[in-house]
Formats: sequence, C-alpha cells, structure tokens
Amino acid sequence: MAKLNEKLSKVEAGSVLDVATRDGAFIGRLSKQLLRYDEIIGIDITDAGFEKAQKKFADDPRIRFQVMDGCATNFPDGAFDLVCLSNSLHHIPEIPSLLKEMKRIKKEDGLILISEMPADGQEGASLTHALIHQLDCLVDTYKGAYHHRTYSRREISDFVTAAGLDIVDVFEDTEDIPSKNAAIEERVEKARHKIEACQEAVDYEAMKALAGKIQEQFNHHGARTAMQYIIFAK
Ligand SMILES: C[S@@+](CC[C@H](N)C(=O)[O-])C[C@H]1O[C@@H](n2cnc3c(N)ncnc32)[C@H](O)[C@@H]1O
Repeated sequence: MAKLNEKLSKVEAGSVLDVATRDGAFIGRLSKQLLRYDEIIGIDITDAGFEKAQKKFADDPRIRFQVMDGCATNFPDGAFDLVCLSNSLHHIPEIPSLLKEMKRIKKEDGLILISEMPADGQEGASLTHALIHQLDCLVDTYKGAYHHRTYSRREISDFVTAAGLDIVDVFEDTEDIPSKNAAIEERVEKARHKIEACQEAVDYEAMKALAGKIQEQFNHHGARTAMQYIIFAK
C-alpha cells in the first residue's frame, strides 16, 4: 500500500494504539513505515492471535499486546497520538461506541486511522478477494460469529463523521505482494469446500451461488488483495 506507507513515513507518533489487532499484522506496517514511535500497543477482545504477535515483535520492546475491549478501554483520555483500526469495523457490532472510545483516548491533535476493505469499488482480481470475504461473512454468521457484511465507502465515512470526527485525508490503496496474492488464490479453492459444512443454512443456495461467482471471477481476472479505503481523522 504505497500511498499509506508514504503518508505514515511522515507521521511522528509517540504513543500508538492498534485496536482489534489480532496477530499484529497492521502493527507490522506501522512499525516499518512510521517516521518514529515510542510505543505501539495492540489490543484485542481475545488473545487468540497474541502468541504469533509476540513472536513477530520479540525484538522490539516498544511493542506490546493487551486483551481489551476497543469499545471500553482502560486508557486515560488523550493517551495516544495515533489510534488505528484495520479491517475490523465490520467485526464490531457497536461502531458508534467504538469510534467514541477511539476519539476519547486520542490526543486533542492526535489522529485516527481507519483502513477497511469496502464493499464497493472493488474490480477485477481485487473483486475476487472481496467476494471470498463476502462468503466468509455468510459462513461465519451461520456458525454464530459476528461478521457483518463489509460497509460501502460512503457508510464508512458516515460512521466516522457521525462520531464527531473530522476526516482530514481519505484515499484508496491496494497491495500487490505476490505471497499475499497467492494466499488469496488458495482461498478461492477453499471457498467451495467451506460451504460444504453449511448445507443446513437457510441461505445455503446464496452461498453456493457466491462460491460459483468467486470461481468465475477468479477464472477471468485472477486474485489479489482487495482495495482498502483509508481515512485519517481528527
Ligand atoms: C479481522 S480481525 C483484525 C485484523 C487485524 N486488525 C489486521 O489488520 O490484520 C478482527 C478482530 O477484531 C477483534 N474484535 C472484535 N470485537 C472487538 C472489540 N470489541 N474490541 C477489540 N477487538 C475486537 C477480533 O477478536 C479480531 O481479532
């Protein structure tokens, strides 16, 4: 994501928070690209990804992880220069509470950074990834996990402004890393198998149709990581 990396390379952040960090994948980008940071804390509602995360950043004592609800953290007001959320808006039911909390714990002149795969604007090989993700939403929901459909670019912006935040920069960015694209290709193959366990689902036919659409999109365009919609807000 060249545009995002370029912007991060100009950000001098003291304290950074990555909300819903899972295994710290986004912290990998922040730690490489930020001009400077004193500490980066990754929080998540579960520690399921923390072992992997801690291994990844074992050499950097400035990076640590804590189990915490992003909607109700125990950080004081104005604690962070930069508060990030990557690909998680659609995993959290209480978006207004989440954004209110992110706003509370950022410094007055601090930044909020949201990077999210939007539902619209995806084309060609990127649409293959977005469709795979749509199927994941249906399968996860059938299995009882909260996984909302992805939001449109307009919906994402509206959430941010409704939280009383001012959007200072908004842009789209894509990644073209062969290993990541290969991982998406593997998920095309897995998509058909994934729905086999969902034959009792009321929307099984919709899942089947979507699996067919994924294969067709892949046959025509291949697969690569989906476009991200990125917002910096104050
Ligand atoms: C798609 S994953 C995160 C991906 C990660 N940020 C990245 O960019 O690779 C979504 C994460 O949201 C976390 N999550 C869901 N609700 C949360 C909450 N209320 N507070 C913090 N994390 C939450 C889940 O546990 C999960 O790890």
